[in-house]
Amino acid sequence: MIIAQITDTHILPKGKEWLDQPETDTAGRLRHVVEHINRLMPRPDVLLLTGDTVEIGCKDAYQHLKEILKPLSMPVYVIPGNHDDREEMRAAFSDTSYIPQEGFLQYVIDDFPVRLIALDTNVPNEDYGRLCKERLHWLEEKLVNLPPKPTLLFMHHYPMKVGQKCFDKMVFHMEGEFEKLIESFPHILGIVAGHYHKMCTSLFGGKICFVAPSAAPTHYFAKDEDNYFSAIDLVYPSFALHRWMGKARMVSEGVQAVTSNNRLDRFKKTSTDLAS
Ligand SMILES: [Fe+2]
Ligand SMILES: [Fe+2]
Repeated sequence: MIIAQITDTHILPKGKEWLDQPETDTAGRLRHVVEHINRLMPRPDVLLLTGDTVEIGCKDAYQHLKEILKPLSMPVYVIPGNHDDREEMRAAFSDTSYIPQEGFLQYVIDDFPVRLIALDTNVPNEDYGRLCKERLHWLEEKLVNLPPKPTLLFMHHYPMKVGQKCFDKMVFHMEGEFEKLIESFPHILGIVAGHYHKMCTSLFGGKICFVAPSAAPTHYFAKDEDNYFSAIDLVYPSFALHRWMGKARMVSEGVQAVTSNNRLDRFKKTSTDLAS
C-alpha cells in the first residue's frame, strides 16, 4: 500500500496569489505535484491532503482547489489546517462519502491494509492547533472499539516543538493524554502532519511523527528566534510518500515534484537498455 500526502497547498481564489506575490504561484505548484503523482508507477492507493489546503477558507478558494485536484485518480481525503474554515471545507467536500455532516472533521478510512484516522486540529481564527477532550475521546473510542489493525493518524499540526520560535508559538494544545494514548496502542504506526512547510521527524509516544514538506513555498527565518519570516524560499513544490512494507514498518520520504527545469532526462534508460 502506498499513501501519498500533500500538505500546505495554500490555494487562493482564481486571480489571487499567496502573500500577494505572483512568484509564489501556489496553484501552479500544486498542479506540478498532481501531475507528478499521477505519473508515479505504481500509483499511490490513496492521497491525504493534510491541511492549509487554502489560504483563506472561502467557497471560491475551495472550488479552485477541487479543480486542481480533479485529475488525481486515487481517493483523496482532506482535513483542515489553521488556514482552513471547517464549515466551508465541509460544504466544499459534502459530495464525498467520508466528510462528517456535523462536528469536527474527524473520520476513519478502513478500506486499505492500513487504517487511516483523520484528526481535526483546527481552532477557528487561530494559528495554533488543539485536540480538545471531545476530539481525544472520539479518537480513544475508535482505538478501543475497532479491531486492532495497523493504523496511521493524519493531522495538520504536529504535536512537538521544532526549535523555530515563530512556529513554536503556534503550539499544539493537547488536552488530556494524547501522547500516552499514542503510546498505549501498539497498532498505531505513527502520525503524519504538515504545517511547518518543511520535512522533519520526531518520536512522539514512541512512534514516528513525520512532518511532510509543503506544496507551497517555505518560510525563511534568518535565526531560530525570529518571530516572523524574512523571506520566502521558492523551493521545489514537494509532497510525501508513505510505503507500507508490512510487519509494522512504514517508510516515508519527501519528494520534490518534477517540473520541466529540474530533471535531466538524458540519463533515462529503459529496462531493455539495462538488460543489454
Ligand atoms: Fe501552511
Ligand atoms: Fe498551518
